[in-house]
Amino acid sequence: MAVTARPKLDPRKLRADFPIFEQTVNGKPLSYLDSAVTAQKPRQVLDALRTFYETSYGNVHRGVYYLSERATEGYEGAREKVRGFINAPATREVVFTRGTTEGLNLVAYAWGLTNLGPGDLVLVTELEHHSNFVPWQYVAARTGAGFRMLRLTDGGELDLSGLDAIAGEGSVKVVATNLVSNSLGTVNPIERLSAWAHEHGAIMVVDAAQAAPHRAIDVQALGCDFLAFSAHKMCGPTSVGAVWGHGALLEAMEPFNLGGHMIRRVTFEKTTWGELPHKFEAGTAPIAEAVGLGAAIDYVEDVGLEAIEAHEHELLTYALERLSDLPGLVLYGPPPERRAGIISFNVEGIHPHDVAQVLDMEGVAIRAGHHCCQPLMDRLGVVATNRASFYLYTLPEEIDRLVDGLHRVRKILG
Ligand SMILES: Cc1ncc(COP(=O)(O)O)c(C=O)c1O
Repeated sequence: MAVTARPKLDPRKLRADFPIFEQTVNGKPLSYLDSAVTAQKPRQVLDALRTFYETSYGNVHRGVYYLSERATEGYEGAREKVRGFINAPATREVVFTRGTTEGLNLVAYAWGLTNLGPGDLVLVTELEHHSNFVPWQYVAARTGAGFRMLRLTDGGELDLSGLDAIAGEGSVKVVATNLVSNSLGTVNPIERLSAWAHEHGAIMVVDAAQAAPHRAIDVQALGCDFLAFSAHKMCGPTSVGAVWGHGALLEAMEPFNLGGHMIRRVTFEKTTWGELPHKFEAGTAPIAEAVGLGAAIDYVEDVGLEAIEAHEHELLTYALERLSDLPGLVLYGPPPERRAGIISFNVEGIHPHDVAQVLDMEGVAIRAGHHCCQPLMDRLGVVATNRASFYLYTLPEEIDRLVDGLHRVRKILG
């Protein structure tokens, strides 16, 4: 019987693309296990940024001269790459933002302020990053809409059995959740939630900050209405990302930021708005950053999203196995089948910041804190956790270093 092999990547080979790994920390090799907060940058992206600034830089959509045309080509070419990357139906539906946070704020303000009111409900989840929680909480309060939170099971997964009770409490207009949780790595059932949201006349808003860098995204298959992500978590530059929305919804929405570039005609009496996507891109765009995002898309697509996902799954399985052997270690989150390469844990009796500091002495970088998920920390009954997260350049021996470091933590602080 023919067996289809899962695509593979070679992290050692890929690591050579990342100049940052050429250094040591405290005389030890750098084990960067914090890619969920931001990912390191390969030479291909750094070179694309440099080449763009050196050869093609100008403002976009402004001049009729050569450089402006080249810059516009680069910027609009990046938009088309984003469209392909998330399989959006139309390039005009892709809006460049400063990142996921701005994309989600854009939807909450520009859609929420005109479409929500008393009797309506906004549904988020206990698993949300503050970026997909606070804007909705705020806009719900501003419009008089109710704000509800879908609870988690003890295993760290969304408890879908709570949905119908929430629908009985009002008219659900928004369902907003992440595709992958930045704290627990939980992969959420977006297709099911989209179908449920649409049955109830709600829009489905997806925070893909932790998904886009690590797995193939298809907005049409997910069935969502909006999806946002950031470049810096997928090998791209900071301060750029994109939000995709259904053309009809974006057309009907008011603008989010006002000023240059987003207008059609300005008079003393009245201003009318430009076409999509420009209506949502006020001011000078993150031009080089968008080109860098395009280069990051080329890079991860060359490596292969399926291969990245498979690699991280292997690392996750190995790490969970090794960590569960450690005495006094509390692991949070679902089983590997429904989880991405993110592990939250606590060492009993030792504050996460102290754990992370001892690990840093060993050259192992992990995160300690609430991960911008305070409602989730409340649910777990902790103020903070440690978090290790993986990417395409993570090596299995870095997990061994993490485990050795945790033994040392126990020795020093336990
Ligand atoms: C799930 C999730 N959503 C949103 C964000 C916010 O992303 P950014 O800070 O790039 O806007 C993050 C960043 O950590 C995240 O992990």
